[in-house]
Amino acid sequence: MVYVRILTIDDLEFDNKTVFLRVDMNCPIDSQTLEISGTKRIEETIDTLNSLKNAKIVIASHQGRVGNKDYTSMAKHAKILEKLLNRKIKYTDDIIGTTAQNEIKNLESGDILLLDNLRLCAEENYEFTGSTAAKTIMVQRLAKLFDICVLDSFPSAHRSHPSIVGFSYILPACAGRIVEREVMKLDEILSVAKAPHTIVLGGSKIDDRLEAIRLLIKNGRADHILLTGLIGNVFLRAQGRIKSSLGIKREEEMVSNAHSLIGEYPDIFSTPVDVAIEKNGKRVELDVRDLNKDDQVYDLGPKTIEYYNKIISGAGTVFISGPPGFFEKENFDYGTKTLLECVTNSMATTIVSGGHLTSALKKYGLEKKITHISTAGGALVRYLTGIKLPMIKSLEESAEKYRSTVKNHN
Ligand code: 3PG
Repeated sequence: MVYVRILTIDDLEFDNKTVFLRVDMNCPIDSQTLEISGTKRIEETIDTLNSLKNAKIVIASHQGRVGNKDYTSMAKHAKILEKLLNRKIKYTDDIIGTTAQNEIKNLESGDILLLDNLRLCAEENYEFTGSTAAKTIMVQRLAKLFDICVLDSFPSAHRSHPSIVGFSYILPACAGRIVEREVMKLDEILSVAKAPHTIVLGGSKIDDRLEAIRLLIKNGRADHILLTGLIGNVFLRAQGRIKSSLGIKREEEMVSNAHSLIGEYPDIFSTPVDVAIEKNGKRVELDVRDLNKDDQVYDLGPKTIEYYNKIISGAGTVFISGPPGFFEKENFDYGTKTLLECVTNSMATTIVSGGHLTSALKKYGLEKKITHISTAGGALVRYLTGIKLPMIKSLEESAEKYRSTVKNHN
């Protein structure tokens, strides 16, 4: 079916075609063992893979960010996918070299090949326009080997990397099942979204979050912002309630941005009043003003939950992104679990976003009580601001070019 603005898998013919499939298998990686600690994003690709019958599929994804511990190869993802799908997954530790190119050329109908971490290619770490991305070495070398581009990495839809805006500039491009589902569901929610809009925001990608907060407020999508996690601590520092450094990159710049936001929109932000730390292996709750320099905050405290719950109960739409606490750690799941329960008990339209929070929802058996669940974090926040994401723009432009060639559904 043609979704008004973009093409989907149902619109194109895939038999015997070589397909570039951009997914987002960027998974949480355990910092001690370096093993994949959550496979949800790999599981999510299955629907699209099963829909591309008789195609020669080349899967491409990034994992982590250069320099971070979660920046790994895709070898383990290949093994997990093979098990989940119960189909052979070919894997190459190459992306644009002759090994990868030959593997792609030798694919047969029904084969699936996974390339290595796209961010091993320098170009994939920079932002481009569609036409400049089409001139990158990655796209120049590989695009000629493909017939169709399927974009299904909704969690990275806000990035304009070559794999997202470059192949789709040259090849007919359609949305995969995840992108199709997200766009349809989110547009449906946004068209009827009721105020007040309450955003419960945690997460560690602070600069992305700060930028999104400004857009959400400007575009009337945030009447209350309840802060948790690391972004909450940045605002607490900006308010002078945490005195010591948080030890994060470009901290002073982030704190100063948070300070400006509070100054510009004094009635919108709420920050935690109490938190939980670990002392001698035990959970200790304390007022945020009593935090010491070396205290590691692992959870929200009960006063914060009570205060946040009051705002959530009166909301028309609640969007929660990023876990409020380190819920995987024994004795520190209180904040995440209770806040998610507050969200599910509210009468609001509810959206839960990000890989960690979706795992928490599953753990507490709350999935069925949420209007929309997405493993996307930053991309979803930006989608809600009303800004057109680069991936969606590429899909719309491709639909414009190729609409006349789509399959007849009658
Ligand atoms: C995500 O997990 O938000 C996406 O995979 C995008 O990752 P990035 O923020 O490193 O681009």
